[in-house]
Amino acid sequence: MSHDVVLIPGDGIGPEITRAMRRVVDATGVSISWHVAEAGAAQIERAATPLPPETLEAVRTYGVAIKGPVTTPVGTGFRSVNVALRQAFDLYACVRPCRSLPGDGSRYRDVDLVIVRENTEDLYAGIEFEAGAPEVDELAGIVERSGQRAIRPGSAISIKPISAEGSRRIVTYAFEYARRAGRRKVTAVHKANIMKATDGLFLRVAREVAAAYPDIAFEDKIVDACCMGLVQDPRQFDVLVLPNLYGDIVSDLCAGLTGGLGMAPGANIGDELAVFEATHGSAPDIAGKDIANPTAEILSAALMLEHLGETEAAGRVRAAVVSVLSEGAQVTADVRRAQTGAAAGAVGTAAFADAVIAHLG
Ligand code: NAI
Repeated sequence: MSHDVVLIPGDGIGPEITRAMRRVVDATGVSISWHVAEAGAAQIERAATPLPPETLEAVRTYGVAIKGPVTTPVGTGFRSVNVALRQAFDLYACVRPCRSLPGDGSRYRDVDLVIVRENTEDLYAGIEFEAGAPEVDELAGIVERSGQRAIRPGSAISIKPISAEGSRRIVTYAFEYARRAGRRKVTAVHKANIMKATDGLFLRVAREVAAAYPDIAFEDKIVDACCMGLVQDPRQFDVLVLPNLYGDIVSDLCAGLTGGLGMAPGANIGDELAVFEATHGSAPDIAGKDIANPTAEILSAALMLEHLGETEAAGRVRAAVVSVLSEGAQVTADVRRAQTGAAAGAVGTAAFADAVIAHLG
């Protein structure tokens, strides 16, 4: 049986790492029809948007996509393509397994946790007003009339919506995932001591959902204390469920516990569709040099193969990556640097993919 998959190369290091990923997936023998679709700054001139309608249509049609990272301008310019994709298809669960890999150069061994991040709400909902916008004055008026602390003139405002429905489905997803994956504990991460309305709602719903899963342990942690705990002893965590912003930040923290951004895979899952992508960004500082680590993208493809029911091929991809990293002779510069303090002796993106293919068995 052949699977249809939309491939969005993205920009920066995206084209290099997705090329490497595609070669590895094709070498497993699983039959995939790749439908290449574009996204990113280069599309603006042609399609007047970084996320062209035909790309959206392809994802809608085929239901499964894997993408490379896409650059988002900081502070000004167009909105994030990633956020837009997640919102357009209601890909509400961002799942990021964080597992120690042999020779990953990290300070920690035996890390094995999973981040489940809410993907559609919170400060990432994209509801923002620039300083000077008339809506800011209107909102300031509402706040003043409600008797709360006045908003300082000249402020910009980003709105943080968190709903009971959104919280319930992400926490339920986390518990269902834990059950399926044989995991023992779910930790809800929040800042409900300060944000009593939004994070308070998230926590209340998390406790309600937890009560329906007596077979899985539940605890909650305030996000700052959670970060400290992760750095002190990541092995105390199992599945973490977080609202969008904390999930974004804690994902990168956890990537740092397991060999860095080049190693951290991810999946964005909705009820109908799934888009797989590495945790990292487009890394413009190393783009086009054949030095980026494609591991995160290749492991994202393993998650995708599992999603497609190709469990055996997914296992072979993972095992091949682990073998290449354990042998340690053919690793990319980021890994070599973490191991030895220098990049000398590292191989390039394409050569790493060749090594993984040679180990596929
Ligand atoms: P980044 O993740 O691109 O890079 C941070 C650091 O990690 C850089 O030093 C980079 O060289 C290194 N790095 C990242 N991936 C690597 C890999 N595979 N191999 C080796 N080294 C790697 O984060 P940054 O610089 O904050 O963002 C760059 C752009 O990417 C921004 O425009 C941002 O908005 C975008 N971005 C896109 C994402 C996506 O498409 N899913 C996710 C995160 C950021």
